[in-house]
Amino acid sequence: MTRSRVPLAQYMQACRPEIEQRLDALVRCANEDSGRIYEAMRYSLLAGGKRIRAILMMAVADTLVDSHSHVLDAACALEMVHAYSLIHDDLPCMDNDDFRRGRPTSHRMFGEAMAVLAGDGLLTLAFDTLARIAIEPPVTPERLLSCIGEIARGAGPDGMVGGQALDIANTGNLAITKELLQSIHSRKTGALFRAAIRASAILSGADEHTLARLSRYGEAIGLIFQIRDDILDVIGDAEKTGKPAHSDAAKGKATYPSVVGMRESELLMSQVLSTGRRILEEQGYAGTVLEELLGYAAARDF
Ligand code: IPE
Ligand code: IPE
Ligand code: MG
Ligand code: MG
Ligand code: MG
Repeated sequence: MTRSRVPLAQYMQACRPEIEQRLDALVRCANEDSGRIYEAMRYSLLAGGKRIRAILMMAVADTLVDSHSHVLDAACALEMVHAYSLIHDDLPCMDNDDFRRGRPTSHRMFGEAMAVLAGDGLLTLAFDTLARIAIEPPVTPERLLSCIGEIARGAGPDGMVGGQALDIANTGNLAITKELLQSIHSRKTGALFRAAIRASAILSGADEHTLARLSRYGEAIGLIFQIRDDILDVIGDAEKTGKPAHSDAAKGKATYPSVVGMRESELLMSQVLSTGRRILEEQGYAGTVLEELLGYAAARDF
């Protein structure tokens, strides 16, 4: 566990170049005819996201087995799935946003058809990447299969895609309940966080008990992350977030600030933060980067 007991800033600084270099190597065009699609995929993927999901996967592995090289490719695959979700989320038929990661969105740059395909390409390449993960300790064929299933379910119709569908269906719904809002957020964002954490724990050989606790931690950090995202849409600085400010209100999106107000959004976030901390304490993981990541998700300004 020693590797996960360093200050978070230092941990992130060490992890990010590993992720960037591996992503760059994994998403390369082998055939000149495919140059344009790879250009579009790389444009969005290698545009400097926070890499929080990949870092979480590395932190889980470092906490469990004091090493994370066996989850690096799975972490990159997760970032590909995430980048695909962002490209499609920004499309005119979805959130219709023009800026992402501080630059024009994929459809603004390459046109809508290419943006749809860049998303499709990243999603499918993610699963190709997962299927190629080396079977070396602690990774076994059973663990890898289970990890692939987790990521598929987290991304799919019972996870992120399902949450996005609910998000779209409830845009402009002024009568939305808190319960439905939480369910949308837990699915559209929480499900991929949970899946990332579970996938890493499974590859690292976690027992059922640990896996159950880490899943609850994943749900907590995912919800915190999306509440903070909603708050940043209201108070954030577009220069820092790399996304347009006040985009949610302009579209009538169901967000925490719009449904429960800013004060209650903050309060709710701190309650979920305490739950997350308690789960880690129960597991003996207090003081690891996993704990610091909870605070980071709640207080980040980009
Ligand atoms: C944005 O995710 C979409 C949400 C689920 C809130 P991130 O805030 O992790 O985006 P990047 O990867 O850092 O650009
Ligand atoms: C998106 O939520 C969640 C995804 C699954 C992509 P948002 O629509 O709030 O994300 P941003 O604010 O555009 O990054
Ligand atoms: Mg959206
Ligand atoms: Mg959006
Ligand atoms: Mg948002």
